[in-house]
Formats: sequence, structure tokens, C-alpha cells
Amino acid sequence: MKRIDGKVHRFAHLIVYGCQMNQSDAERMLGQLKTIGYEPTEEMGEADLILINTCCVRETAEDRVYGKIGEIKHLKRQNPDLIFGITGCMAQKEGEALIKRAPHIDFVLGTNKVHELTRVVREIEAEHGHVVDVELGETELPDDVPVARSGKLSAWIPIMYGCNNFCTYCIVPYVRGRERSRLPEEIVKEVREAVAAGYEEVTLLGQNVNSYGKDHKQADFADLLKMVDEVPGIRRVRFMTSHPKDLSDKVIAAIRDGEHLCEHIHLPVQYGSNRILKAMNRVYTVESYKDLVRRIRAAIPEVSLTTDLIVGFPGETDEDFAQMLDFLREIRYDSAYTFIYSKRSGTPAAKMEDQVPEDVKKARLQQLMDVQNEISLEINTKLLGREVEVMVEGPSKNDAAVWSGRTRTNKIVLFAHDGEQPGDFVTVKITHPQTWVLKGERVH
Ligand code: SAH
Ligand code: SF4
Ligand code: F3S
Repeated sequence: MKRIDGKVHRFAHLIVYGCQMNQSDAERMLGQLKTIGYEPTEEMGEADLILINTCCVRETAEDRVYGKIGEIKHLKRQNPDLIFGITGCMAQKEGEALIKRAPHIDFVLGTNKVHELTRVVREIEAEHGHVVDVELGETELPDDVPVARSGKLSAWIPIMYGCNNFCTYCIVPYVRGRERSRLPEEIVKEVREAVAAGYEEVTLLGQNVNSYGKDHKQADFADLLKMVDEVPGIRRVRFMTSHPKDLSDKVIAAIRDGEHLCEHIHLPVQYGSNRILKAMNRVYTVESYKDLVRRIRAAIPEVSLTTDLIVGFPGETDEDFAQMLDFLREIRYDSAYTFIYSKRSGTPAAKMEDQVPEDVKKARLQQLMDVQNEISLEINTKLLGREVEVMVEGPSKNDAAVWSGRTRTNKIVLFAHDGEQPGDFVTVKITHPQTWVLKGERVH
């Protein structure tokens, strides 16, 4: 709390872990906090309210949160009026146990309670008690929750919540509940508002966007893509994540035909052997996935494909892993996020026998990354001399004279700054392609 020109200012500090859905939820939390008088601050020390929006997809994510919770203890001792809340997936999973473990937490709010934040904060402001509200239920986030967007150019738009897939390693369905799709008109309305507020790019979010609309049947994902593509003023439309089991030819055609629909599909395969895919309950096979990729590439030759891969799933053998490396060399992803399998209690895989030793997992991860990095570099090298459309984002991390932006295919491009502003669309000729970035020169 600060008194500036006689007026009291209250500050909120949000710490956000996890996926884009968590980022998007946090924007709706901050939006609400603003309506009851909190201003965002980067300074944890000056905050009157600290919120950690948590992730529990892997153990490392949880460890990070526990570390942060510990750090905040002394701030609470210095300022007993500080309000400290835990939200998100770990809040959902642990509930009251979090407060038992760390009594300096004031409230724990589950993933389906984002819209209850102001009510809970008000209650604690008035009474200083503890509040735990993690009932999962089937409610969806109401459409009218105010949003304070963190990005300046690109807006996250949630199109559905939850997941029905129950991949055997994954905690998400247990902490996010069943799939619920927003109505198409509500999504289009939010996209229109984002465009009116100056956003040129939107990213449509869901754990599995391809099953959008299967509940309300008012529009499927391909229909929705078309509607968003047609919003006047939109420049780029992205979406994630696509589950391979239900990416239809209709969706592929929509991406091919859409003017603003970016040629990038994040299509997590998770593994490259049928035995492990089956144990993971991914429902597709190596063969059906390859056929899907063939159809995507035939329709959209420029497409970039990215993926998620997990090594060390229970029962993984050298033979499975060799098949996965062969699979990668055959598919040739533009890039991949690689993870070491993390045992999540409550999921079927946690009870499976033959858990893979840590050192084996680490060695396989390294091998996997080496193979993928080589492929990424080969693919990017083919772009040498090519001119690409770049949406300018801003100065690069290491050098203020070098700016960065992205291609439609979601590759990062670096170029010498020459008066461009964030949000400009420029043409860059690629001169030095690398594994992670493309360096180039602006074409005037
Ligand atoms: N709904 C998305 C993303 C879910 S979480 C999808 O289905 O693709 C993001 C990624 O985390 C997953 O794609 C998976 O690769 C990884 N992941 C999920 N659970 C994991 C676990 N227990 N251990 C390691 N990685 C995991
Ligand atoms: Fe997890 Fe599978 Fe759902 Fe993705 S599709 S969130 S990996 S259960
Ligand atoms: Fe993590 Fe929850 Fe997202 S567990 S990955 S924040 S849905």
C-alpha cells in the first residue's frame, strides 16, 4: 500500500507458472483485481496481494511453487496484512493440504473458480480468515470476466476448458475437469474486442482444440477457425493444442484456405512407438499419425510442425526408444519440446511397473534433443536466402539494436533495428539460419 498524492494505492503481484491456459487465467484474475482497486506491480516486496497461479504437470513445476511459497513467508511476517493466495492446477490438486503445509497462505482457489477471485479477496480483506474453494464441478468460466492482457500484440483467447482424454501420464484432466466449449459468438466477440483494443494476433487456446464444440454442437473447430479468420482487422490467428486423434480434414482445409490462419500446427505425438502410445492411451498409432502428417503437408506445403515428446515412460525399452528416434528422423519436426516422464500420483502410469531409472531417462533425453536439434537446423538452413513476413515484437533479449519477430510459421527472426515498431509487418531475408532462430536482413 502506498499513499501517492493523498490517494491510497494497493498493489498485486502475480506469479504465473505452467501453460498458456494458466497465463490466460491469470489475465482474468488480474482483470478482476483491477476492478477492486489493485494495480499490478513487478515488485513482490511492495505488494499488498501476492498470487501464485500454479502448475503441477511435472514434479519440477511443483517444486518451484513450494520454493516460492517458502520465499513469501518472511514477507508475510513483515506485513501481516499481505494477502497471499494460491490458484491454478496445484491449488486444485492439493486444496487444503497447501494451507496445512504453509499456514501463511490465505486462500486456495481451484481452476474452476477463477471468477470467484474478487469475492474471496474481499472476504479475506474483511475477515482475515482462510478460504479454500476447489470444488471442480462442471461450471465454466463465465464470459464476462474482465481481462487484463499481458501481451501487447498477441491475445490469448480460451475457446474451451478441461480435457477428456486421460492420457495415462497426465494430471491435467483431474485438475481441469471435463471439456467445456465456449459458445462461438462469445469467442468471436472477445476476438473483436481484442482487435479493437489493438491486438493483431490471437491464439485460440484449449487442451485439445480439435474437439471444440463437441459438447454444444453449435460449431466445430473448423467452423470456429473460419469465423475468427473473418474478424475484420485480424492479421494472424494461432491455436493450440491439437490432439492428433481428432484433427479432421475439415480443419486442415480450413487452415489451408484461411487468410490469417498461421501455417503452424503444434501436434504433440508424445512417443514414437505403438507399444508406448497404447500404454499412454493416446488412441492413435505411429502409422495413423504419419498419415495425418502426410495429409497436412500435402494440403499446406509451407506448414511448420512442432511436437511434445516424453522419454522414460514406464516400460520404455531401448527398442522403443530406437523406434522413437527413427520416427523423429522420418517426420522431421521443425522443433520439439522434450520432457522427462514425471510420475504424477493419481494417474494410471504412476502405478505401472518398470519405472525407468533417472540416469537412463536423462541420457535418452539428451540423445533425443541432439537428434531433434540436428533436424531443426537442417530445416531452418533450407530457409537461407528466403524472404519471410515477420510480425515485429521488439528488442531481442541480448542486444537492444537487434529486434525480434516471428514468421507465420512461428519461427523467431532477428534483424537489425531500423525504426520498426512492435506490431509492424516487415519482410526479412534470411541470411544466417540457426537451430533456434533465423537471422536476417530487412528488405525494403
Ligand atoms: N493438452 C496438451 C498439453 C498438455 S501438458 C496436449 O495434449 O498436448 C503439455 C505437455 O506436458 C504434454 O504434451 C506432455 O508432453 C507433457 N506432460 C504431461 N504430463 C507429463 C508427465 N507426467 N511427465 C512429463 N511430461 C508430461
Ligand atoms: Fe494431458 Fe492428454 Fe489431455 Fe493433453 S490430451 S492435457 S496430454 S490428458
Ligand atoms: Fe500445468 Fe495446469 Fe497447464 S498442470 S500445463 S498449468 S493445465
